[in-house]
Amino acid sequence: MNDKKTILKAENISKSFGPTKALQSVSFEIRQGEVVGLIGENGSGKSTFSTIVAGIQKQDSGNLYLNGELYQPKDINDAISHGVSMVVQEQGTLDNISVAANIFAGKEDEFSRFGFMDIRKMNEKAAAQLEELGITGINPAQLVNGMSFEERKLLEIARAAYTDPQLLLIDETTTALGKDGRDILYGLINKLRDNNKTVLFISHDIEELMNICDSIIVLRDGKYIGALSKEEMDISALRRMMVGREIAESLYRTDDEGRKSDEVALSAEHIRYGLLKDVSLQLHRGEILGIGGLTDCGMHELGKILFGIITPDYGKVTLADGSQIKDPYHSVKKKLGYVSKNRDTEALMSASSVRDNICMPNLYRLADHGLVSPKKERELVAKWQESLEIKMRDQSQFVMYLSGGNKQKVSMAKWLASDADIYIFDCPTRGIDIGVKSDIYKLMIDLKEKNKAILMISEELPELIGMSDRVLVMKDGEIKGEFLRSKDVTEHTLIDYMI
Ligand SMILES: Nc1ncnc2c1ncn2[C@@H]1O[C@H](COP(=O)(O)OP(=O)(O)O)[C@@H](O)[C@H]1O
Ligand SMILES: [Mg+2]
Repeated sequence: MNDKKTILKAENISKSFGPTKALQSVSFEIRQGEVVGLIGENGSGKSTFSTIVAGIQKQDSGNLYLNGELYQPKDINDAISHGVSMVVQEQGTLDNISVAANIFAGKEDEFSRFGFMDIRKMNEKAAAQLEELGITGINPAQLVNGMSFEERKLLEIARAAYTDPQLLLIDETTTALGKDGRDILYGLINKLRDNNKTVLFISHDIEELMNICDSIIVLRDGKYIGALSKEEMDISALRRMMVGREIAESLYRTDDEGRKSDEVALSAEHIRYGLLKDVSLQLHRGEILGIGGLTDCGMHELGKILFGIITPDYGKVTLADGSQIKDPYHSVKKKLGYVSKNRDTEALMSASSVRDNICMPNLYRLADHGLVSPKKERELVAKWQESLEIKMRDQSQFVMYLSGGNKQKVSMAKWLASDADIYIFDCPTRGIDIGVKSDIYKLMIDLKEKNKAILMISEELPELIGMSDRVLVMKDGEIKGEFLRSKDVTEHTLIDYMI
C-alpha cells in the first residue's frame, strides 16, 4: 500500500491569530487515492489547516507541496485550478443568485456566448450535475434564498464536485446533513476514491471517520499528534490522541450505588403547562435524577418550570424549607442553578466577558459596602477557570469567542461559584467534545458526593443510563416510567417508554 504516491505534503505549517496558535509546525503527508480523516476537538486547527490548503488563507510559515511541487495557492480559484476544492464548514452559498449560478460560480465563462449568458444551458447542466450526485427536489433556476442550510450544503458539494478535484477537502459538513444528504456525500467520496482522487474529510465524529476513512490524522491544540491506518483505528486510541490523556473506557459512573439520601430537595406537584399534564416528581439530595424523552416530550419546559422561568398553569414547585419557586431571581437566592439547553441564547450573555458571566448570579456576595469588588470578582473567576480548566485568552474575553465546550464550562461555573444546592442541567453535554464531556461528568459526580441535588434533562440515552441514580422517562407531557440505577436498564428499556 505504501507505494502510493504522496499527493499533499505539509511541512512545518504554522499559523497564529493574535495570541492563538492555531497551527504549530504541522507536518504530514497524504497519499493519492485515499480518504483521509482529519480529527481533533473543537479549536484544534482543522479548519485553519484545510482553508490554507484550499487557498482561503495563508500560513505564517512552512510549506505545502502538491504532487511534489511547492504549492502556494494565491486564492480559492488558484487552488481549484490546481485541482484542490473545498466544502467549507460555514455556509458557502451566495444569496440572490440561482442554484445553477451557485454551482457554476467562477465558471460562468463556460456558459457565455458572444457576451450573453446561456442561462438555459447552465440550468440544464446544473440539473445534470445534481442528478449525477443523486440530489433531488432542487430546481436549478430557483434562487437559493430561503433554501435550508442542508440544501445549500448539497449545492456546495455539487459545486466542489463539478470542479473535478484531485483533492477534495470537506470540513464538518455532515453535521448539517440528514441521512439522505450524508448518503449523497458518502457516495461522492467513494466515487472519488474509485477514481484515484483524494479526500481530506474533517469531522470530530470518530465513528463516522472510522467508517469512511483509509487513515485518520489527529490534531490537538494546533499540533500534529499522529495518524492511524485502517488497521490501527481504535476508538479509545483516537480519543486518547485527541484529548491527550486517558479517557476512562467508560465515560460514565462506574458505581451502582444509587442515591445517597432520602431527603427531598425539591418537589414538583401536579404541574400542568402546555402539553405537560399533571407531572409530579421529587428530587433528592445526593441524587442525579435523569429526565429522558424525545425533544418535544415536555422535559425542557419542565426544567424551566422547576427553576421559575415558566410559571405553570397549575401545580407548584416547593423546596425543602417549604418555600415555593416563584421566578428565577428568587430561585437564585434559594440556591438553585439552571443551565439551559440553549447555551448561546439563554445560558450565557454572549457579548459579555467571561468574568461578567460567571459573576452575574454572585454579585451580592462580591459586594463590599454595596459596591462590587473587582478584586473579588477576579479571584472568583480565576478559581473556577483553574478548577474547570476553562480555555480562554483572559477574563475579559467575550464568551462568544470561546469554543462550545468552554462556553458550557462558563455556564456551569457561574452556578458552582454561587455554591448552589440544586442544579438543573438541560442537555449539559450537547454538542460537546469528549474531553470536556468527561470533565462535566466528573463535576456532576463531585456535586453528588457533596450531597447536592442534580436534575439532568438529556436526549442522550447512554448519558442518562450512565450518570443517573434514577431515570424518569417522559412522553407527550407525562412521566411514563421510572427506573432505578441498575445494570438491567438498557437503551431499549427506555426507548420503549419514550415512543
Ligand atoms: N479568523 C480567526 N481569528 C481568530 N482566531 C481564529 C480564527 N480562525 C481560527 N481561530 C482560532 O484558531 C484555533 C483553531 O481554530 P479552527 O481551525 O477553526 O479549529 P477547528 O476547525 O479544529 O475547530 C481556535 O482557537 C480558533 O478560535
Ligand atoms: Mg472547524
